[in-house]
Amino acid sequence: MTGVEQLKEQSGIAACRFVSDGMALGLGTGSTVRYSIIEIARMIKEDGIEVVGVPTSEDTRVLAEHLEIPLRTIDEAIDLDLTIDGADEFDPNFDLIKGGGGALTREKVVAKASKSMVVVADETKQVSTLGEFDLPIEVDSILWEEVSAEISSICPGDVTLRGGVGEPYITDNQGFILDCSFGPTISNPKSLEREISEVSGVVDVGLFVGICDAVVMASRSGVETLVKPGGRL
Ligand code: 5RP
Repeated sequence: MTGVEQLKEQSGIAACRFVSDGMALGLGTGSTVRYSIIEIARMIKEDGIEVVGVPTSEDTRVLAEHLEIPLRTIDEAIDLDLTIDGADEFDPNFDLIKGGGGALTREKVVAKASKSMVVVADETKQVSTLGEFDLPIEVDSILWEEVSAEISSICPGDVTLRGGVGEPYITDNQGFILDCSFGPTISNPKSLEREISEVSGVVDVGLFVGICDAVVMASRSGVETLVKPGGRL
């Protein structure tokens, strides 16, 4: 296992201290939260806890099913106790860029339906200002060119169709993803999220503002839990 992979594993497992018997859990998507999902399956089998999970993507559904975690769909379990998910970036206000794995729309629905959200991340995800990581935006696959042109008037850098025109990446909702190069300039993610959401054809934006309550961050010096002051945890 590489150094970064070890950090992901440490963070993914450590975040499961927020999991307790009887919870309904949002199960995020990505290579870090994968370790949380494996740990939750272990807690069910070895510690005897009973939980249900709501997956945020088909990839997570397949993994959780394979691990025999009892699952519900989001419409069956509207009140979730906790969502654990990864992030591509988090800033000092615990605002996030997500969607590197293309699952941002369901991830946001599930996180918003949860009483709290914990992000699992290694230290490379911590930034002072969001935007170095290209902001993913899910868009209607028919309208993507018009949307791309509109977003280009908002975004100072390139707006790129993920996968390219020949073989676009298709989300679980049959949408496309535009990766938008803002650079580390997103100091007001709430207003940017609102502005982009108003463009017709946008399905959702990979900015998660005021949703995350804690980050379990693994670094070479250990695992730290950063709890948002005034948050829900
Ligand atoms: C998927 C996501 C992921 O949570 C995010 O990309 C982080 O993934 P990883 O833990 O693999 O770095 O938002 O849409």
